[in-house]
Amino acid sequence: MKATAVAHPNLAFVKYWGKRDEALRLPAEGSISMTLSGLSVRTTVEFQEGTGKDDVIRIGGEDARGEERERVVSFLDIARGLAGTDLPARVESLADFPRSAGLASSAAAFAALALAASRAAGLELRDRDLAALARQGSGSATRSIHGGFVEWRRGARADGADCHGVQLTPPEAWPELRLLASVVEKVPKPCSSTEGMRRTAATSPFYSEWLALVKRDLDRARRAIRERDLALLGETAESNALAMHAVCLAAWPPILYWSPGTIDVVRRIQALRADGVPVYLSIDAGPNVFAITDSLHEGRIRGALEELRAVESVHASAPGPGARLVEDHVF
Ligand code: PMV
Repeated sequence: MKATAVAHPNLAFVKYWGKRDEALRLPAEGSISMTLSGLSVRTTVEFQEGTGKDDVIRIGGEDARGEERERVVSFLDIARGLAGTDLPARVESLADFPRSAGLASSAAAFAALALAASRAAGLELRDRDLAALARQGSGSATRSIHGGFVEWRRGARADGADCHGVQLTPPEAWPELRLLASVVEKVPKPCSSTEGMRRTAATSPFYSEWLALVKRDLDRARRAIRERDLALLGETAESNALAMHAVCLAAWPPILYWSPGTIDVVRRIQALRADGVPVYLSIDAGPNVFAITDSLHEGRIRGALEELRAVESVHASAPGPGARLVEDHVF
C-alpha cells in the first residue's frame, strides 16, 4: 500500500482564470499548457494501519501545517473515498526547486499525489480518471498528468466527469521549444489563485470579455502547437497572460501580482524581441516571468535575463513527460 510518483509543473499558454464550480474545481473555460521538463516533484504515499488516525504529511522535509495540510488531507479523503478505505496515510513530498520560488509547485504536487495516492490505495485509474482526480487538488494539476502539450477541456457535465486534461501532442512533437522561468524577488502575494479567481469573476468589469478572449486563444494555441508556429504560440501566450493580469488589475480590491523585478524582465524580453530575437513571455499568479523561445536562442536569452539584478535564477525546460510511477521510495 505504498507508491512513489514524479510529476512536473506546467505553464499555461492560455490561462485558467475563473471557475464554473468552486467545490469541484471546474473551470469557466478551457486552458492549454506545456509540461516543464526542468522542474519536478516526487511524492511517496503509504496507507498503513497502526500509525494513529491522523495522516502524516511532510512537504520539503517539514510537517505541513494549517491550510496546506488541510488541502492535502481533503484530497486524500477523496482518494480514500474512491478506493473504499479509511486508513491514514503517510505522505512525503520533495521538489527539486525551492518551494518559495513560486514556480507552480501545486500543479506538480497534486499530479504526483493523485498518482501515488491512487496506486497506494490499490486503484489503477485510467488517465482521464486520474486527471479528473488531480483536478480536485489543484485545477492546473489536471494538465500535469500528461506530458508535452495539454488541453484542459471545460467539459459540459455538472459532475466534472468530462473535465480533465488531455494530451494534444507528446513532448517529442516539438522538442526545440523552450520555456525559461526567471525567478524574481517576492512581494507579499496579494491573494491565492482561488481568491483571485473569485474576486475577478465577482467584480472585474472585463470578466466576460476575458472568457470570450480565452475561447479565441484556445483555437489559436491549438493551431500554433499543431503547426509548431513559435510566433503564433508566443503572441497568443503573451497577450493572453497580459489580459489575465489586466482583468485582475480591474477587480476590486485590485489584484497586482507583479514586483518591480517583473517589469524589468518584461521589458528585457520585449527589447530582445524588438531586436529580432523570437522570444515571448507569460506570467502566472505571481511575480515570475516565463520566456517562451526555441533551443537556438535559449543561450542568448538566458544570458540577457541572468544579467538583470532582479533575476535570482533562471530554470530552462523543454516539453516534459507526464506523471509517472517510480521505484525509488523516500521512506
Ligand atoms: O490551479 P491553480 O488553482 O493553482 O490556478 C492556476 C492559475 C494560473 O496558474 C494563473 C493559470 C493556469 O492556467 O495555470
